[in-house]
Amino acid sequence: MEKLLKEILENNKKYCDNGEVAHYIPALASQDKRSLGISLVDLKSNKIFNQGDTDKFFTLQSISKIFTLILALQDKGAEYVFSKVGMEPTGDPFNSIIKLETINPSKPLNPMINAGAIAISSMIKGESNQHKIERVIDFFEPILGRRLSVNQKVFESERNTGHRNRATAYFLKDVGILSGEVEEILDFYFMHCSLDVTCKDIAYLGGFLANQGKTINTEEQLVSQSITQIAKSFMVTCGMYNSSGEFAIKVGIPAKSGVGGGVMAVSPNHYGIGIWGPALDEKGNSIAGVKMLEDLSTKLDLSIF
Ligand code: DON
Repeated sequence: MEKLLKEILENNKKYCDNGEVAHYIPALASQDKRSLGISLVDLKSNKIFNQGDTDKFFTLQSISKIFTLILALQDKGAEYVFSKVGMEPTGDPFNSIIKLETINPSKPLNPMINAGAIAISSMIKGESNQHKIERVIDFFEPILGRRLSVNQKVFESERNTGHRNRATAYFLKDVGILSGEVEEILDFYFMHCSLDVTCKDIAYLGGFLANQGKTINTEEQLVSQSITQIAKSFMVTCGMYNSSGEFAIKVGIPAKSGVGGGVMAVSPNHYGIGIWGPALDEKGNSIAGVKMLEDLSTKLDLSIF
């Protein structure tokens, strides 16, 4: 496996030059676009295989949306969650607001786009944002064996420049999707997007979903199978935004990207895969990361379709 990952990393490194790091969040603009890493957790042997930059920190960004969705489903139940946020892909960029006004009654189309994820953030139980983010960090602890922390620089950078998210959130407040204080909800959303992780962490998180919501070492069922299935279904239909269709054809496994350059991919019952490559394509997905997943899927015959 190590040899295969090495080969895949070396063959795809060149694509880093074709992408750009996220500039719209100023604190992400200084990332090295040549960074690239891949980690794979094998559920059968409980072993992790790593190549490239797998110990460097980057922020979770939109990958966090999968886990806040899981928490919201646990906290509020599916009926409530889907009364506020839909289940359909958009075909639009992740930060688009265009459909919010054209759908009647107005409701974000899914929990992976920013509008849907901000609505999901408002559903997490907790007395304060500190309490809420501690609950997210508590959730990750048994899966990762360590406590994540918020990257303060990235958090503040997003908070100071997230004007489009702010516009989205105020719109959602106006149409009754958000209850609660808009700035508070946005702060919590920026916090969970700014959690520092490594490529290895992402592979373990993918492994947890591949293992149907059970921790890999202790087989503890932290998330029900039905909620895990909802999460993975959204990864297939919306996880790579308006590239999800092409990704399903070329790679064929549930995956979720973030503008920090991470991609978490899941080969159900087999592998959790973590990717980090901050050079992004025009849709906001790791450009070399997606290429590596295409090669890995072909070599290991991973497509679920
Ligand atoms: O709200 C934002 O724009 C970022 N915190 C998250 C966006 C993101 O990761 C989209 N992913 N490809």
